Amino acid sequence: MRVLGIESSCDETGIAIYDDKLGLLSHALYSQVKLHADYGGVVPELASRDHVRKIVPLIREALAKADTSIEALDGIAYTKGPGLIGALLVGACVGRSLAFAWNKPAVGVHHMEGHLLAPMLEAEAPQFPFVALLVSGGHSMLVDVQGIGRYQVLGESIDDAAGEAFDKTAKLMGLDYPGGPRLSRLAAQGEPACYKFPRPMTDRPGLDFSFSGLKTFAANTIAAEADDEQTRANIARAFEEAVVDTMVIKCRRALEQTGYRQLVIAGGVSANQRLRASLAELMGQRGGRVFYPRGEFCTDNGAMIAYAGLQRLKAGYTEDLAIKAQPRWPLDALPAV
Ligand code: KG4
Ligand code: ZN
Repeated sequence: MRVLGIESSCDETGIAIYDDKLGLLSHALYSQVKLHADYGGVVPELASRDHVRKIVPLIREALAKADTSIEALDGIAYTKGPGLIGALLVGACVGRSLAFAWNKPAVGVHHMEGHLLAPMLEAEAPQFPFVALLVSGGHSMLVDVQGIGRYQVLGESIDDAAGEAFDKTAKLMGLDYPGGPRLSRLAAQGEPACYKFPRPMTDRPGLDFSFSGLKTFAANTIAAEADDEQTRANIARAFEEAVVDTMVIKCRRALEQTGYRQLVIAGGVSANQRLRASLAELMGQRGGRVFYPRGEFCTDNGAMIAYAGLQRLKAGYTEDLAIKAQPRWPLDALPAV
């Protein structure tokens, strides 16, 4: 089976073609980061308009790179939600319409299911069941994953998502959007143990996260301290260590609770090197393994949508002829495959 995947839920237009026998045939990505940088965050209307401009040329590019004919496609998958409604509608309109025109089945994919399954695109993929830490710009959650569509959310952020906390703190430090990777680069220049940031919600049981207090703590520290470059780097380091440490503590708890030996991290923040190294250390101590997507598939991309869409199409899930998007969509509302 061969599926064209379309991602347009936020500020990346991603297209890919995945074949269940041959693997990933091609992928093409356009990031709108430069477009939104002047505004310090994603401007939804500009995002939608830019998806409109880029989506068809990228589909052409992905088809050409895969050297595949339209006839050889067995279906079209597009991100149906969650995300920005206008941005989602661009992918849904194009995906659903192309499927109709080409007489193929269409399937709407849950963006976070895409992230969750992205490590399956790698040669060494995890086996079900596993614990997944999903950390992106819009979500932070720990999930008990027993199979495709068999997700039990063990905990989630009660306020800011992890990526959002990185981005907001980076903004406070004067770094450009998206601040997460920039803050992380600055943190690499920082000295350890200069500041003691809290580890929110680790002093009580449970697997929920809260990151907004860390952002406030960072704001107060920045305001109180001299703003030379080394001090800024030290603050960035303390902030990053606090976020990573908190996630490690919660992952350990989730692994203890489930008894699983495999941990998946996915979503934009899974590109963070300190997080990867710390979770690898945790799994080393526990005699288990951590899995994550390659760098370019940590953040939004079409490959994860093509992969997740293929699994759902194979199980018989299809969309009717209506063009629909679902900006809010709980992950555990998905049916099992
Ligand atoms: O998954 P993603 O591309 O989009 C959403 O679905 O939200 O995640 C983007 C988020 C942004 O908040 C970005 O700052 C963060 O992932 N991010 C990072 C790193 N790379 C991306 N955060 C920390 N360290 C990184 N290296
Ligand atoms: Zn995402």
